[in-house]
Amino acid sequence: MKTLNEVWRDHNAQFERALAALYADQDEPQRRLFESMSYSLNAGGKRLRPFLAAQFCAACGGDPDTARPAQLAIEMIHTYSLIHDDLPAMDNDDYRRGKPTNHRVYGEALAILAGDGLLTDAFRVLSESALPADRALACVRILSANAGPWGMAGGQVLDMEAEERECTETEVRAIQSRKTGCLIRAACQMGVVCGGGSEEQLEAAGVYAVHLGLAFQIRDDVLDVVGDAGKLGKSVGTDAEKNTFVKLYGLDRCRRMIEDETALAVAALEPFQNAALLAELADRLAEREY
Ligand code: IPE
Ligand code: IPE
Ligand code: MG
Ligand code: MG
Ligand code: MG
Repeated sequence: MKTLNEVWRDHNAQFERALAALYADQDEPQRRLFESMSYSLNAGGKRLRPFLAAQFCAACGGDPDTARPAQLAIEMIHTYSLIHDDLPAMDNDDYRRGKPTNHRVYGEALAILAGDGLLTDAFRVLSESALPADRALACVRILSANAGPWGMAGGQVLDMEAEERECTETEVRAIQSRKTGCLIRAACQMGVVCGGGSEEQLEAAGVYAVHLGLAFQIRDDVLDVVGDAGKLGKSVGTDAEKNTFVKLYGLDRCRRMIEDETALAVAALEPFQNAALLAELADRLAEREY
């Protein structure tokens, strides 16, 4: 029996190859755009969202290979969200995935366009999947709803608007669940769709994702305060002005909230036959250092 680390490592080795193949050997005149997109896409990263998609597909009895286009699409959109999140107009960060941020290397205009390219091309990749048309369409609906104004993009706006004012717990939850939870939910639910799961499983994957996403972002905020930039591969201390859970409650209460949200995520896995790995993953992420 492979450990979670081994399964995740093997998954990532394969997935990195699929990512690298996306824009290899482009000889279009706009090759600088492909270079900028590839720079961020191939810089590493945990590949958590693609891993979740594959694991939910498998937990529904599906062949994880059928989830490949959904995995690529979610990682492309996640990467675009990071490129834009780091821009001077947003978090103004210099360091991401262990390298200088996209705009530091390619300039702001190309970084914006690399994000545009990745966001749009994610839907080309998804539409070229070999899934039955109804499943492919369900994935498009899930991904667009969770990435757009109702989802991640909306959450980023709330995050900016909340700067420099006090927020209630309800407001912070509304921000975090959108800016981070929604893409995690899209990954989990697309996995269920690709694996041919039931409505009940789709719903359960959504509940798991909401709690995992919250725990994940609280941990991100904790690491912004106590984490190590070298291990994280990104700058720390840059969210000091933001309305994070750490600012609201302090580190100790945040650690308890992470435990509570993780337990709720694990409890949501009940409708899946074999979800031991997804449960272990939630526990592991609660203690992550990067
Ligand atoms: C970072 O996401 C942004 C947040 C939503 C907190 P990840 O921590 O998954 O970043 P990568 O993909 O590993 O770089
Ligand atoms: C970013 O949240 C969430 C998205 C990119 C959508 P943060 O701004 O906290 O993420 P990091 O800390 O820069 O990775
Ligand atoms: Mg941000
Ligand atoms: Mg940021
Ligand atoms: Mg952060």
